[in-house]
Amino acid sequence: MSSQHQTKHPLRLAVLGSGRGSNLRAILEAINTGTLPATVVTVGSDNPQAGILQIARDHRIPAHSIPEGPFKTKLTPEAESALASYLADFKPDLIVLAGYMRMIKAPLLETFPQRIINVHPSLLPAFPGLAAWEQALQAKVTETGCTIHFVDSGMDSGPIIAQERVPILPHDTSETLHARIQLAEHRLYPEVLRQFASGQRPLP
Ligand code: GRF
Repeated sequence: MSSQHQTKHPLRLAVLGSGRGSNLRAILEAINTGTLPATVVTVGSDNPQAGILQIARDHRIPAHSIPEGPFKTKLTPEAESALASYLADFKPDLIVLAGYMRMIKAPLLETFPQRIINVHPSLLPAFPGLAAWEQALQAKVTETGCTIHFVDSGMDSGPIIAQERVPILPHDTSETLHARIQLAEHRLYPEVLRQFASGQRPLP
């Protein structure tokens, strides 16, 4: 972890995810096409089969399997401390959660204060928690979206950085709506990171 609060170039990103890794792919595409002056220094996952780890390996980025432990929704304090120490060795400017399905607790929050960001598939504070797109469908709202926010100890409750609106269409299913929200995520996450990397949006 850098002790400097100035933005450095390229921005050093450590990415954590549990699933497919389409947001990581979008971030890497923005880096590779030159629109995002950043480097992904490591990728970690609590799911050894996750696509996100394979994307990391394909890009020759260190891919780290986080031991799953006894709980589904959080790491043990010891495992999270070990993860914090693993990540700190890469001196990341930001910890980028991209579909990471566990709550973030004190070891990570204290090691990387105000440096952990997350993407959530709704316009927070609406629909925090799991399957936010299904929550939106069930609530019969006509619009949802995605949110990039700083992570605190709550559930999807940290300060909001940016949002993109997504319409809900009459015949949307869970799949079509989630896919449309993900397209917005793939625009918004690299753009927010570009703003941090360029200094346009100062890191706290
Ligand atoms: C995204 O929809 C994100 O909003 C949610 O988990 C999903 C991750 O997708 N937190 P992917 O692994 O980046 O494809």
